[in-house]
Amino acid sequence: MVVQYLRMILVSGGAGYIGSNTIIALDEMGFQDVLSVDNFLNSKADSYDRLEKIIGKRVSSVECDLADRNSCLELFENHKITGVIHFAALKSVPESVEKPTLYYRNNLDSLINLLEACKTHQVNKFIFSSSCTVYGNPEEIPVSEESPFAKAESPYGLTKQLGEMIIENFCTLNLEFNAISLRYFNPAGAHYSGQIGETITGRPSSLVPILAQQAAGLREKVVVFGDDYDTIDGSCIRDYIHVSDVAEAHVLAFDHLDKMDSNYDVFNLGSGNGNSTLEVVKSFENANALKLNYEIGPRRGGDVEKIYASNTKAEKVLGWKPKRNLNDIVTSAWKWQQNSPDRS
Ligand code: NAD
Ligand code: WQD
Repeated sequence: MVVQYLRMILVSGGAGYIGSNTIIALDEMGFQDVLSVDNFLNSKADSYDRLEKIIGKRVSSVECDLADRNSCLELFENHKITGVIHFAALKSVPESVEKPTLYYRNNLDSLINLLEACKTHQVNKFIFSSSCTVYGNPEEIPVSEESPFAKAESPYGLTKQLGEMIIENFCTLNLEFNAISLRYFNPAGAHYSGQIGETITGRPSSLVPILAQQAAGLREKVVVFGDDYDTIDGSCIRDYIHVSDVAEAHVLAFDHLDKMDSNYDVFNLGSGNGNSTLEVVKSFENANALKLNYEIGPRRGGDVEKIYASNTKAEKVLGWKPKRNLNDIVTSAWKWQQNSPDRS
């Protein structure tokens, strides 16, 4: 293979939902040399075609399974990578319960292989996709970065907790290595163009894509999981954060890696507001001027009653403030669904 001596940011999982939106944000914020690596486990190569329409150029990309050590090391041998934004992982909670070892292997091997490659090639900038799932059912809300980890409810959640712990430990042993874990709350919505959104493969479990599918007639009804919680209307509370805001936070965090007081830090990425499931349903209906067919059903096992983020640390330290609201989430999600009628 021809060695390309470029200095670039490696975006792992760059064909996926948040990775591809982050490639747009990187481009908009002046980071030109980006290499996406993905094995299309949960995405399709046509992501790159849609990205090209938005950023006006073809993103450099490599198809590679990061959980394969040799392939990962080879990637770093062939490209002059200077930093990593690591999205690549499997993310379905129910699937992780059915196939725990698949999740342990894919999510943890990929991370460990990347850290090893970083160490070998003196790559010292690293951003990790973590999740609010690490907090479980929190005792206090809004939940701050100081809140403790709860016992992991799923193999997926465990891979995020272990991932953070491995990176923090790696940082204590490698003082020149700077890393940030970003704990996303509920990323939702799509790029405003309606061209880059969440690709649903298999059984979707996330609320907003399910609403969009129902509106498109791809599912008969939406079941709201429980209306007897101790919340404003009895349905669960979550912190829905627009994917473009999440994407922009990555660029700010990447920029911050050189300026940190210590070499490891963690930030919540949430809107700072809680919305109930029924509020999201009504917002989707009102903003898009349509009616959804929904009914109240039983609680879903393992659901957290209410959680939303304190995002003051990200605002103070990274200068990040969400620019979009729930209305933007539900309108962009519906636009994406309409542009993608074959995505069932
Ligand atoms: P996604 O599935 O759309 O994107 C992940 C990408 O990684 C996919 O394109 C997939 O093909 C790729 N991938 C998976 N394993 C790989 C491997 N071994 N080698 C190479 N590529 C691989 O998911 P997303 O929603 O964009 O999530 C990105 C990250 O954010 C994940 O780590 C996820 O756990 C985390 N996260 C997501 C959410 C959410 O609600 N979307 C919330 C919290 C955290
Ligand atoms: C949101 C709300 C449901 C579908 C997931 C992952 C977690 C993290 C964040 C990645 C809940 C309700 C949903 C439906 C419904 N992701 N709902 N009917 O549960 O916050 O967590 O995203 O790290 O690990 O588990 O997100 O979108 O599944 O649900 O009533 O058909 O919508 O009960 O209250 P959740 P979600």
